[in-house]
Amino acid sequence: MARRKKIYEGKAKTLYEGPEPGTLVQYFKDDATAFNAEKKDVIEGKGVLNNLLSEYFMTGLGQIGVPTHFLKRLNMREQLIRSCEIVPLEVIVRNFAAGSMSKRLGIDEGTQLPRPIVEFCYKDDALGDPLVSEEHIAAFGWASQQDMDDILSMTLRVNDFMSGVMLAVGIRLIDFKIEFGRVFEGDFQRLVVADEISPDSCRLWDIETGRKLDKDVFRRDLGSLTDAYSEVARRLGVMPNTPPKGGKPTLVN
Ligand SMILES: Nc1ncnc2c1ncn2[C@@H]1O[C@H](COP(=O)(O)OP(=O)(O)OP(=O)(O)O)[C@@H](O)[C@H]1O
Ligand SMILES: [Mg+2]
Repeated sequence: MARRKKIYEGKAKTLYEGPEPGTLVQYFKDDATAFNAEKKDVIEGKGVLNNLLSEYFMTGLGQIGVPTHFLKRLNMREQLIRSCEIVPLEVIVRNFAAGSMSKRLGIDEGTQLPRPIVEFCYKDDALGDPLVSEEHIAAFGWASQQDMDDILSMTLRVNDFMSGVMLAVGIRLIDFKIEFGRVFEGDFQRLVVADEISPDSCRLWDIETGRKLDKDVFRRDLGSLTDAYSEVARRLGVMPNTPPKGGKPTLVN
């Protein structure tokens, strides 16, 4: 079997050269990191769950006309994606205060915000992905004004979609982070939602109990991360089928 060319190894995913020009294979690892990789662990099964969940959200976004990099899922850990030039920004939407916003502004976690608030962080691990304003983004040329208009309108659509999908299964979307990429089609470029959408990059709280179903379970040592992610997958109906014990062996990718 020929060895694939590794394009990038990140903290949670590895990118390989895809079968056709302009495509990549995104492999979801079981590695979990937090606090800019100061805290690390391997959480068995996390990659499989995030692969399935990201497929579910990206497919749903495609169906409502929000373009994404997702092409198709290849197996339990890998998906085929369009290769893009990543905009060096983490785009964060907050519906309720939590995490760094609560700390920065002294607002209790869980406080509903008067409206969704969009924040931008500059993607640079060495700097700890610092919060930046649109002034920085324009002045340093990280994205054009047209890009920013598109990013903002797509981001708010992603928020509406994700909030609705979660609400329908009894989960509150507190906040999330997405990334955008540029794809080039002839003389044109357009933006697509890239990277992943999963409980690694969202805050998800059970509406009834307040139970956390996202990466804060790992960050704050609140129990089993796979149990939390499995609960999200189960509610959305994307839980992988678990073969009955003692049944026939099945091929697992
Ligand atoms: N469609 C795409 N084309 C090119 N690069 C992509 C695409 N989707 C995601 N990426 C990039 O691939 C990497 C995914 O790996 P991972 O999320 O594990 O990285 P990371 O360690 O979090 O690093 P980073 O700080 O860059 O996100 C990220 O750098 C992400 O920006
Ligand atoms: Mg990442």
